[in-house]
Amino acid sequence: MIRPIIAYGDPILKKKAAIININESNDLTSLIDDMWETMYNAKGVGIAAPQIGVSKSIFVADFSFFEEEENFKSEELINMQQVFINPEIISEAGEDFIYPEGCLSIPNISENVVRKSIIKIKFIDQFFVSHEMHCSGIIARVIQHEHDHLNGLLFTDKLSYKTRKLIKKELNLISNGDIDLNYDMKFCK
Ligand code: NI
Repeated sequence: MIRPIIAYGDPILKKKAAIININESNDLTSLIDDMWETMYNAKGVGIAAPQIGVSKSIFVADFSFFEEEENFKSEELINMQQVFINPEIISEAGEDFIYPEGCLSIPNISENVVRKSIIKIKFIDQFFVSHEMHCSGIIARVIQHEHDHLNGLLFTDKLSYKTRKLIKKELNLISNGDIDLNYDMKFCK
């Protein structure tokens, strides 16, 4: 089921998502299905559960969108479409890497964000199998962005004071629902 995407300004996006108890969670399938459907409908490459109003520690991402990109490392042991339950970034290393980010909750805004280029991540997949792996380039970038959502952080929180000031007006328009969109959103005000 396609769900409305929670827009910038809603307090759920600022909240730390709850760890999923996998022993009790048999209803994850419909949540995961809804996340994929909602993400593809909005032409996104990743989505975190709080963005559809569920404050749980899970995100999904489809990396195939970046296959042609220079920073794409296809030898990484990660599926093109990957579910990340209770993900934990264990370490970040490498050079600072600048890349323009956007977010389904912050439509029509894209800004350069600086992040480390290599990460080590631990997560559980939809079959409840644990993984631990190193990721780099675009794959690491998408994971860092989505992982931030689970800690109540948005890419706009990573911008300089100056850049944030410049986009403040646009952000206000989004939280007020004053935007044109081709997917369904839920606005706070
Ligand atoms: Ni996002």
